[in-house]
Amino acid sequence: VTLVAEMQDDARKPTASLDRLSELLRGDLARVNTLILERMQSPVALIPQLAGHIIAAGGKRLRPMLTLACARLCGYRGGTDEAGDRHVTLAAAVEFIHTATLLHDDVVDASDLRRGLATANAVWGNKPSVLVGDFLFSRAFQLMVEDGSLKVLGILSHASAVIAEGEVLQLVTSNDTATDEAAYLAVIRAKTAQLFAAASQIGAVIANRPDAEEEALTAFGLNLGIAFQLVDDMLDYSARQAELGKTVGDDFRDGKITLPIVLAFKRGDEQERRFWRRTLEQSEQSDDDLDRAIALLHKHGALRETLERARHYGTQARAALAGFADCAEKRALIEAVDFCLARGY
Ligand code: IPE
Ligand code: IPE
Ligand code: MG
Ligand code: MG
Repeated sequence: VTLVAEMQDDARKPTASLDRLSELLRGDLARVNTLILERMQSPVALIPQLAGHIIAAGGKRLRPMLTLACARLCGYRGGTDEAGDRHVTLAAAVEFIHTATLLHDDVVDASDLRRGLATANAVWGNKPSVLVGDFLFSRAFQLMVEDGSLKVLGILSHASAVIAEGEVLQLVTSNDTATDEAAYLAVIRAKTAQLFAAASQIGAVIANRPDAEEEALTAFGLNLGIAFQLVDDMLDYSARQAELGKTVGDDFRDGKITLPIVLAFKRGDEQERRFWRRTLEQSEQSDDDLDRAIALLHKHGALRETLERARHYGTQARAALAGFADCAEKRALIEAVDFCLARGY
């Protein structure tokens, strides 16, 4: 834990924050939040109750900020008569898709803590969480229809299908210590990176930019999303829970085969592999097994290497922005990459 904390502290330069991005987008973000609150309403009281619980708990709003910032990077200027508020509408749709996947994900992962609060499934149970997740997905699609672009609808509906595929693929690989890096990467590309990619790409689409810029922003989002999930999977074994706002050790208790596990299993001796098979495949765990697991991850440098892998994808994400002229949006997006690599929450 010390080593990883140390590496994170190294990376925690003053620039490694989302502050510049949220400052730059403050006005637009406030409008996104207003739209979210407006569109989560329903005469069925349980819907705004449950949705309001997870939405008011905050979250980083990273994905909608990608949409807003990429649109501006591409020269889109909202609020004008010609351009309108497409960036705000679509950023809200992106956050609704994200929120819906979180509600579903916490049911599937049986998680108790999200954004520092009890999960919706812990408070109201699994059934309302799944159904309100469906409601938020549907709200996202209504917003896209209001926007009226079939191209954007195509990008985000594709991303939604791929996210669901990723979550199912993950279910299939869980409790299976034979899962390799390629299978793990396929899961995280699908369940996390696709939405980062789509959120970034649609910024270029609404600015009517040429294909090359759209592709560059798609690559930016995809690489950032992969880095983001690699760090998330490292943090599940190493974060300060109070800072993370989620229960540390959930992935281990669930038998999730993330990169740290893949690496430690591969490098482990026969006795260690018996430990992993018992705890992750047979799901037989006792109280001190998480500590043992963390010790083995450190022994094999698995958390450090996961972070190094994330840094590689972070470098790819930054490189994808190379063709854009220097501007406040570009600098803020680069700082967002730094944040994703240094984050503890
Ligand atoms: C959580 O995403 C789900 C993952 C892809 C790991 P975030 O960490 O962006 O969640 P919030 O929105 O900030 O709570
Ligand atoms: C990300 O995976 C889930 C989604 C993309 C919906 P995780 O299961 O690791 O996310 P957390 O840790 O619960 O936020
Ligand atoms: Mg989860
Ligand atoms: Mg996680």
